[in-house]
Amino acid sequence: MGDLFSATYRRDRGDGVSDPKIIVALDYPDAESALALVERLDPALCRLKVGKELFTVAGPQLVAQLMRHGFEVFLDLKFHDIPNTTAQACKAAASLGVWMVNVHALGGSRMMEAAREALANFNHPPKLIAVTVLTSMAQADLVELGISVTPAEQVLRLAALAQSSGLDGVVCSAQEAALLRQQAGARFCLVTPGIRPADAAADDQSRIMTPRAALENGSSYLVIGRPITKAVDPLLALQQIANEIGEPA
Ligand code: C5P
Repeated sequence: MGDLFSATYRRDRGDGVSDPKIIVALDYPDAESALALVERLDPALCRLKVGKELFTVAGPQLVAQLMRHGFEVFLDLKFHDIPNTTAQACKAAASLGVWMVNVHALGGSRMMEAAREALANFNHPPKLIAVTVLTSMAQADLVELGISVTPAEQVLRLAALAQSSGLDGVVCSAQEAALLRQQAGARFCLVTPGIRPADAAADDQSRIMTPRAALENGSSYLVIGRPITKAVDPLLALQQIANEIGEPA
């Protein structure tokens, strides 16, 4: 089925740098700002995350452009809808040739299974992961929704549901990674934001972890925004983090 761009643009990673752990969050309001940053990065050292703001403004054309620059893309649109609609959205994402796509686990197992099924016929399907509990939500926010367990219990529950629905992994905080790694085993993909090198500003993140500590805690991939995007020299910042986690620069 039509992996339209992936066959053309998928980078040959046979050079030992096969699976960069760093995903740079492109939190920009327009394509021009995003591309200005991307031109200063190295696709051998990172992948790119395109979220709702940038995708809404710049769309599939930008995703294709990023891939033409040699980058693999995590399309962070957090699909949450009835099973058929979510499945079709995932299929559309896969047709763009993205490396990773995500849905909300709260959509339930039928929705997640439909999304999984929708990707079955792609030669290079994107990794399909789920968001469990948004880290912006505290206990009181769950109570308001009629959920009486703690956020941590809810994360574990939804991660188990995502796994039994055939998903490849979840987005989680690095603090949750150790427990999730224990529960879900070695192959489950844990994608963790809230990462800060030891000497970087926390910005508005509160529970932060260094790149190395996050990987030691069980993270598979690190979503990193401002420590790279706001650096005076973004490529140097990226190289330093890659060095810290033992990836060749
Ligand atoms: O700049 P910073 O490194 O804080 O960016 C982190 C990225 O990860 C942002 O795109 C943010 O929206 C995203 N994210 C997060 N916390 C979550 C889920 C996603 O910070 N729980």
